[in-house]
Amino acid sequence: MADNKSRVALVTGGTGGLGTAMCERLYKDGYKVVANYKDFTKALQWREEAKKWRENELRMGIDIHIVEGDVADFKSANAMMKEIEEEVGPVDILVNNAGITRDAPLHKMTPEQWHEVMDTNLNSVFNCSRAVIEGMIARGWGRIINISSVNGSKGAYGQTNYSAAKSAMYGFAKSLALETAKKGITVNCISPGYIGTAMVMAIKEEIRDKIVAQVPNPRFGKPEEIAKMVSYLASDDAAYITGANMAVNGGLHMY
Ligand code: CAA
Ligand code: NAP
Repeated sequence: MADNKSRVALVTGGTGGLGTAMCERLYKDGYKVVANYKDFTKALQWREEAKKWRENELRMGIDIHIVEGDVADFKSANAMMKEIEEEVGPVDILVNNAGITRDAPLHKMTPEQWHEVMDTNLNSVFNCSRAVIEGMIARGWGRIINISSVNGSKGAYGQTNYSAAKSAMYGFAKSLALETAKKGITVNCISPGYIGTAMVMAIKEEIRDKIVAQVPNPRFGKPEEIAKMVSYLASDDAAYITGANMAVNGGLHMY
C-alpha cells in the first residue's frame, strides 16, 4: 500500500475558507498538497493574494503548492492538471471544493446568476474529474470528494441555482462510483451545513440569525470539522465508502 507521502491531493478553490482548512489537514496527513485558485489572467490580484496565502502557510510550517486555473472552464482545468502532473505528480485525491453563490429568488434571478453557479459548482466537477479519472484508473487508486451542501438536499430560499448544482453532485458521485468501484477509486460527497466562512458571513445578519436558530446544535460549523471528513474519505481506511453523501450539519437536515 502506498504511503501518503507519495500521493498528491488537489483542493480546488483551496485558498478559500473551507479549502484552507482542507489543505492544512491533508498536509498534516502527509500528502503533497496543491491548492488551486482562480485564473490570474482575469485579475492580477488573485495571483498576488494566492502567493501571500502560500507565504502565510509557510510561516506556519505548511508547504502547499499553489496553481491557478479556472475550474469552470474545461480547457483551463485540463491545463492546470497537466501543470500539476509535471510539477508535483498526477492527482490521486481530488477535492472538488471551488464554489460560489449568486443568491436571488427565481423571479429575480438572471441567466448570468444561473450559469455562473452551474459552471463553477457543477461543470467544474465534470471538468476536473474528467481530467484525472483516466490516470486514477490506470494507477488503480483514487479519491474524488465533492463538496456539496446541506442546501443540495434541503433546498434554500434564494438558491434554486445553487441547490440544483449541489444536488446534481450527488448523482454524479453515485454514477462515477459505480463506474470505478472495481478500480480502487472512491467517489463521495460531503454536504456541509452552514460553516462560518466568508460565504456565510456575506448573508445579511438578520437572516444569518434566523439560520442559526434553525440548527439543532445552534452554531455555525468550523472549517476544520469539514476538513476532518475530507481527511477520512481520502484515507485508505475509507476504501469501502463510495457513492455516499456525508452530512456534517449540526442536525439541520437528517436523511
Ligand atoms: N432562512 C430563513 N428566512 C430567509 C432566508 C433563509 N435562508 N433567506 C431569506 N429569508 C427570508 C427573509 O428573512 C425575508 O423574510 P421577511 O419577508 O419575513 O422579512 C424573506 O425571506 C425575503 O428575503 P429578502 O427580503 O432578503 O429578499 P430579497 O429578494 O431582498 O433577497 C436573497 C433575497 C438575496 C435570497 C436574500 O434573502 C438572502 O441573501 N437570503 C439568504 C440566502 C441564503 O441563505 N444563502 C445561503 C448562502 S451560504 C451557502 O450557500 C453555504 C451553504 O451551502 C450552506
Ligand atoms: P469561499 O471561502 O468563497 O471559497 C470558495 C473558493 O472557490 C474561493 O477561494 C474562490 O475564489 C474559489 N473559486 C471560485 N470560483 C472559482 C473558479 N472558477 N476556479 C477556481 N476557484 C474558484 O467559500 P467556502 O465557504 O470555503 O466554500 C467552499 C465550498 O464549500 C463551496 O463549494 C461551497 O459551496 C461549499 N459549502 C460551503 C458552506 C459554508 O457554509 N461555507 C456550506 C456548504 C457547502 P475567490 O475567493 O477568489 O472567489
